[in-house]
Amino acid sequence: MKLVLASKNEKKLRELRDILSAQGVEVVTEADVGVDVDVEETGTTFEENAFLKAHAVMQTSGLPAVADDSGLCVDALNGAPGVYSARYGGPELDDVGRYRLLLENMRGQLDRRCKFVSAICCCFPNGDRVEARGECPGTLAYAPRGEDGFGYDPIFFVPEQKKTFAQLTAEEKNAISHRGKALAAFAEKLREYQNQMK
Ligand code: IMP
Repeated sequence: MKLVLASKNEKKLRELRDILSAQGVEVVTEADVGVDVDVEETGTTFEENAFLKAHAVMQTSGLPAVADDSGLCVDALNGAPGVYSARYGGPELDDVGRYRLLLENMRGQLDRRCKFVSAICCCFPNGDRVEARGECPGTLAYAPRGEDGFGYDPIFFVPEQKKTFAQLTAEEKNAISHRGKALAAFAEKLREYQNQMK
């Protein structure tokens, strides 16, 4: 089976290839199949946005396509930044600007509970869909810690590890992260789907 990844992110490609190659699934890029689809993420849930991206690439390429959407949800902010995580505070902010804004908006707030969420959707030309979700609970740190990672990693504190995501190695993070969990669940569901189709 061949799946087109609806993303230009090299890291996502590697992760998906690593986990799916064992079950005979070949993951290719949009460029590999000669399409370049720009999708507006207008959904109000991670699932909707993952579907919008996968569906658009499936329709344009005529091949099964897979996409993911992820973000950070803070309880005290009613789930914000949520699906707007990548755009929080507007286009002029970078990763550091975004997490500083979030810390500012959480100043004085004692309820620091939050979670990372990742939704994966795979759309098939026959209308079938395989979907998976992963979540990682944590608390929002009061100040950034750690050098590794990206996005909100320096302020996402994992109580069990007593470290932020930015202080974990890639392996340690993948083992507990929302994306790691979503990918594992997706691989399992896709395996079941492949078996049904035999
Ligand atoms: P997208 O899923 O590529 O649309 O990106 C969602 C946004 O959520 C990213 O730009 C990051 O700001 C944030 N995000 C998602 N996953 C992570 C993570 O594992 N660490 C830090 N930030 C993340």
